[in-house]
Amino acid sequence: MSILKIVNCLDPILRQACKEIENIDGELSILSQDMIETMYAAPGAGLAANQVGISSQIIVVDRGIGTEKKDPITIINPKITAMEEEQIGEEGCLSIPEIFAEIKRANRVEMKGIDLDGNEVRLESEGFLARALQHEMDHLEGILFWDKLSQVKRGMLKRKFKKRLREMKGDSK
Ligand code: NI
Repeated sequence: MSILKIVNCLDPILRQACKEIENIDGELSILSQDMIETMYAAPGAGLAANQVGISSQIIVVDRGIGTEKKDPITIINPKITAMEEEQIGEEGCLSIPEIFAEIKRANRVEMKGIDLDGNEVRLESEGFLARALQHEMDHLEGILFWDKLSQVKRGMLKRKFKKRLREMKGDSK
């Protein structure tokens, strides 16, 4: 397994819709393992393939979010089949490091997709896991969490992110 490079939000790949996966093969299984390793190393609670430079519909999330236990799941070609209730909570993204904002999401989400064996999977979630699934699903459609905010708020966060990026580049000199 290897830790992959996570692209940041300035990379245009994060603005493109990802392609549906047609062949589930060994390569996909390796990608999934690498994505899981990359997610935990970051550390984060979810990751979409385009964040590691691959424009395909595959996400990994940690079902053990908020607990000590690591419980990763891989979902191929995910679709949200039901959304209920509302939650507002702080959200971040591994492609927008150190930037957080309060985002409104559905509190309960049902998702279906395919697992690495090619079988259909259905996942019921609520709270933070439901938030993570919606966030990763958005990535596959080229959407970033700050798109949910007003233009003014998004502009502020973008400037903050770019400033932080410049500082980080300065730090590594
Ligand atoms: Ni993200």
